[in-house]
Amino acid sequence: MVRTPDSNAGEKRAAGEAAAEMVRDGMVLGLGTGSTVAWTIKRIGEMVEEGIEVLGVPTSYQAQDLAISAGIPLTTLDQDPVLDLAIDGADQIARDLTTIKGGGAAHAREKVVACSAQWFVIVADSSKYVDLISHSVPVEVLPFAARLAKSRIEDLGGTPILRQARMKDGPVITDNGNFVIDADFGTIEDPQILATQLSEIPGVVEHGIFDNVDQLIVVIDGVVRTFNRE
Ligand code: A5P
Repeated sequence: MVRTPDSNAGEKRAAGEAAAEMVRDGMVLGLGTGSTVAWTIKRIGEMVEEGIEVLGVPTSYQAQDLAISAGIPLTTLDQDPVLDLAIDGADQIARDLTTIKGGGAAHAREKVVACSAQWFVIVADSSKYVDLISHSVPVEVLPFAARLAKSRIEDLGGTPILRQARMKDGPVITDNGNFVIDADFGTIEDPQILATQLSEIPGVVEHGIFDNVDQLIVVIDGVVRTFNRE
């Protein structure tokens, strides 16, 4: 998958910075991956400099590097298993807040962090907000299971593509040492059923369908809008 140039940079920044306003002194935070939540991390770093005390659990090496650069003290899920708030980006999010993640191949850790949080917030630009999910579903698999997983995805009606690296020959290797298959199912009428079917494939570590988003912060026509799960 090719990550497209950042055409909605202003919206991403506004959404990302708006989410940082939810951060309170003493919170333990999940820190997401990608270009939108990077603005959140940067803003939280400024708040730390201003005196607020927080701890962060990064969802990827990218988030870890950003958090360290921003001066946010880090912790782990072993030390702090319950997070007050997790903030992350998305590849696509539907009106009912069903979300596709994993465009940066970080969705496995992102899901673990999101599921450890008492409140999970997605930050997004307007291009991500849709009626129905149609984005390909990133599926992290054990390299040993890649052939089987591709075949099972085809059985489910999907078109699987093993994600190829840029600036390295061969497949993308995740932060966990696995491959990613991008599975195109067209418009997904029932993401819950597909999520269950993908989870049942032997060797699948995690897929990018998220059904646990509590709140969306999205910028539409220059206005920051917030939608809560109903
Ligand atoms: C990482 O694997 C993804 O889940 C990201 O959270 C998502 O791709 C974020 O996209 P942006 O870079 O557009 O914020």
